[in-house]
Amino acid sequence: MNQEMQKEIELWKKKRRAVIFAHYYQRPEIQAVADLVGDSLELARAAAETDADVIVLCGVHFMAESAALLASEKQVLLPEAGAGCPMADMVTEKALAEWKEKNPKAVIVAYVNTSAAVKALSDICCTSANAVKVVASLPDEQEVLFLPDRNLGGYVIRQTGREMELWPGWCNTHEWVTQEDVLAAKKAHPGALVLVHPECCAAVANLADHIASTAGMVRFAAASAATEFIVVTESGILERFSKTCPEKSFYLATPKLVCPNMKLTRLSSVLRALETMSPVIRVSEDLRAPALTSLTRMLKLG
Ligand code: 13P
Ligand code: SF4
Repeated sequence: MNQEMQKEIELWKKKRRAVIFAHYYQRPEIQAVADLVGDSLELARAAAETDADVIVLCGVHFMAESAALLASEKQVLLPEAGAGCPMADMVTEKALAEWKEKNPKAVIVAYVNTSAAVKALSDICCTSANAVKVVASLPDEQEVLFLPDRNLGGYVIRQTGREMELWPGWCNTHEWVTQEDVLAAKKAHPGALVLVHPECCAAVANLADHIASTAGMVRFAAASAATEFIVVTESGILERFSKTCPEKSFYLATPKLVCPNMKLTRLSSVLRALETMSPVIRVSEDLRAPALTSLTRMLKLG
């Protein structure tokens, strides 16, 4: 059944001159049909560079919106319209506008896990892969508000030593991991290195041998001499590790590490999206230019 659908997807992809981009958290069968599997930063860069007519973004809404901003002349499809990011919904345009009014001199650094409307009110975006670099690029005396992830923001503060005000947002999937979960995994696998995503809380991050974005974890595991790893990020990444490091062992720190939104997309959703050319993700004209400015400022940092 899967094989049949994969073949049909291939045919429709050619017909539509489409590419399929998938986040590391997607189901294995989605990663299998993807032209590129990447983290938020890699997906944004690829959207800006592709010469395809259609981008099928297998991820969540903000990722498709970023692709639509960066590839304005392409059609961007999000196979499951309901695939959102609860963390992105924790900061609204209205709440951010009120905060800006109270702090007119502050620079707003927005994690890409935000709506286009919030990006439009922000000064520069970041992903978990470049958040430290983005904040370090700002003048020392500059007042900074970082949003919406207090955990990623806390990690940046610890790395850069600079003060920032943090929006009180979080990712349910990563926030639910406790220090006890990781300690139990370490007890079960005493020789394993612990890889932690910066969306986890500080207590969990303190137990890490390496803290990195999803792509950073993939690179680290491949380069490391270690052969066993405890993974503290969403379960979908295990599929990637099985491809990049088939000889090494990876243990999910806890079965709680599942993002329900990332798991909504199935092969049938991708096929339907290509057949019907929907749902298309568009960004309204009034938001396009300011939101794109925040994104391109980030991409220009390299
Ligand atoms: P990265 O892709 O930047 O590692 O972020 C993880 C994430 O939670 C995306 O929703
Ligand atoms: Fe949002 Fe967390 Fe799911 Fe990523 S893993 S999409 S941050 S809820």
